Amino acid sequence: MIFIGSDHGGLELKNEVLQYIKNELKEEIIDKGCYSKDSVDYPDIAKDVCSDVLKNNAIGILICGTGIGISIAANKIDGIRCALCSEEYSASMAKRHNNANVLALGGRTIGAELAKSIVKSFLQSQFEGGRHEKRVNKIMDLQK
Ligand code: RB5
Repeated sequence: MIFIGSDHGGLELKNEVLQYIKNELKEEIIDKGCYSKDSVDYPDIAKDVCSDVLKNNAIGILICGTGIGISIAANKIDGIRCALCSEEYSASMAKRHNNANVLALGGRTIGAELAKSIVKSFLQSQFEGGRHEKRVNKIMDLQK
């Protein structure tokens, strides 16, 4: 299951990515807002989406204007590993090596076609475990 959310700066890209995941990738996805161009605070969206990610052992996608604020906020939450990506290779490696459970994108920094390709790379990659597991565990220990 995938949970997606954005602030007003990421709204348009969120809607594009949402339709792509539903219609092309045929994955179950839940839209946590925002739903209009009215200004909202990206930490609130990050908190809401990440809470569902943790409860459901799911994947999250977060979008703000640059992806920076919303990824910083998400990474403050224990159990979240959020990767801000602007190309496909990093998106794949974020899953394969870092076991990222949330992908962040910038609605004002990348176009919709690139975003879809990044999302596909992220969703279709798997954590490789092995030596990477120890490193990811060390990241999570930093929050204790
Ligand atoms: C909102 O104007 C903007 O600051 C936000 O979307 C994001 O880019 C913050 O990092």
